[in-house]
Amino acid sequence: MRYSGKILCLSGRPYRSAVGLFNAYCARCHTAGYSAGVAYTKEIASGGLGPALRAGRANIQFKQREDLIDFIVKGSVNGKAYGVNGVGGGKMPGFGAVLPQSDIELIIDYLRGMTPDA
Ligand code: HEC
Repeated sequence: MRYSGKILCLSGRPYRSAVGLFNAYCARCHTAGYSAGVAYTKEIASGGLGPALRAGRANIQFKQREDLIDFIVKGSVNGKAYGVNGVGGGKMPGFGAVLPQSDIELIIDYLRGMTPDA
């Protein structure tokens, strides 16, 4: 838990599960260096193929929690706008068929709870 103090000071199971889910399903595109097999060379959600999601960025792109859930369920569609100013490149898969909504909610609440970097 090297970065736990920097991300969100929660302890206990939900927090660990959210990080575990993020690393299992999202980090290969959203954490720099992760897909190269060297975990944690960069901070979690620091951005890679997909944009950085650190520091509460998910709240900036998606004002409504429901809209963010919807985006994760369906994924991005090439040329289709999402959030406040996102334009889908069709490169992010939808997770509706992969993860139960409760897991998706756990991940996005974790992202939404990140404190802005100082
Ligand atoms: C295969 C690579 C890939 C995976 C896996 C992936 N994403 Fe993405 N994600 C992207 C790309 C690429 C974009 C930018 C939209 C595009 O180009 O289609 C994006 C965009 C986003 C955005 C919008 C960010 C913004 O500021 O515009 C959020 C939020 C997001 N992803 C969350 C997640 C979560 C949560 C997961 C895991 C459940 C995940 N992503 C898994 C590639 C991925």
